[in-house]
Amino acid sequence: MRVVVTGSSGRLGRTLCAGLAASGHSVVGADQASAGLTGVEEREVDLLGEHAAESLLDEVRPDAVVHLAGIAVPFSAPEGEILVTNTTLAHTVLAAAARAGVGRVLAASSPTVIGYGSPAWRAQAVPIDETHPREPANAYALSKLVIEETVRMFSRTAAGAYGFFRPCYVVSPEEWAGAPTQQGHTMLERLEDPALAAVSLFNYLDARDATSFVDAWLAAPAGVVDGTGFFVGAADALARQPVAELWRDLVPGLGAAADTLTGTRPVFSIDKAAELLGWRPERDWRTELSAASGAASAAAAASAAAAASAPPLAPQTESRAS
Ligand SMILES: NC(=O)c1ccc[n+]([C@@H]2O[C@H](COP(=O)([O-])OP(=O)(O)OC[C@H]3O[C@@H](n4cnc5c(N)ncnc54)[C@H](O)[C@@H]3O)[C@@H](O)[C@H]2O)c1
Repeated sequence: MRVVVTGSSGRLGRTLCAGLAASGHSVVGADQASAGLTGVEEREVDLLGEHAAESLLDEVRPDAVVHLAGIAVPFSAPEGEILVTNTTLAHTVLAAAARAGVGRVLAASSPTVIGYGSPAWRAQAVPIDETHPREPANAYALSKLVIEETVRMFSRTAAGAYGFFRPCYVVSPEEWAGAPTQQGHTMLERLEDPALAAVSLFNYLDARDATSFVDAWLAAPAGVVDGTGFFVGAADALARQPVAELWRDLVPGLGAAADTLTGTRPVFSIDKAAELLGWRPERDWRTELSAASGAASAAAAASAAAAASAPPLAPQTESRAS
């Protein structure tokens, strides 16, 4: 398929574009700044510019659009700006897709749409699935509710299939290897201090698993995905202890039903994506962190071996370095 991905230079967009290209799609990434992605045709465009989205889609004529662009972190800008930017971007891109007759349009929502940012929030049922009420507690989450309804509006009124997904806390390959995550800390720190992951109900998602989800969504029959949404997360919780042992201190809003979250069970159900799309995540924090630390130890060992076998530094090099 020829696929346009908006927000292609972002945390999720970079991995998604590269992964879709590797699985045989022809990918055009659209972002304000390009990211130097291999195998991806990148366009630098402000999608809020006059007729920018329409011109892009008229020219590229994609089979599908995956809309990720937006302000992705709650409270990272004034509340009004987050609401207006995210909702205007989504409506602009989806309207351009409808006008261009694009067959498949998938937009990024967020699990925060259900409202767990508020101290007064209570889970209706645990594990949380797509039937859970949406009760946004900040402008970011509210923008996602509007985006979900924008998707549904185009699903009712345009010719193509329109859907949304709610990716859990996205972890890119570099973040497993120690790069700072969206919240500024590392993945190891997020595990060491359960209060950090409690903020997102211990959810997470490897960016490559997000890619396989999008691939499965694009391949599914239109009638299966049109007008509906999916939670997309890892199959376990981002915690060293079972959520059943953590929720009382850290997320009382989950309620006593969270006692069922024993072992590695996550708070969010991904059964709908498994049942309707045949999608399952393949990665979890145990394998990815140990692979990353194995790679780091191998790199350190290789550089120590290289240093040991290298000839001694010339005196002038030593003095320049000091
Ligand atoms: N990262 C997560 O954990 C997570 C979780 C749930 C939902 N999401 C959603 O997934 C999407 C992608 O998230 P991310 O973490 O990759 O975000 P990100 O901030 O890393 O990337 C967003 C990209 O959108 C681009 N963009 C913003 N305004 C634009 C405009 N006017 N024109 C063109 N490009 C524009 C930015 O330049 C940026 O590269 C967002 O919609 C976010 O809300 C992300």
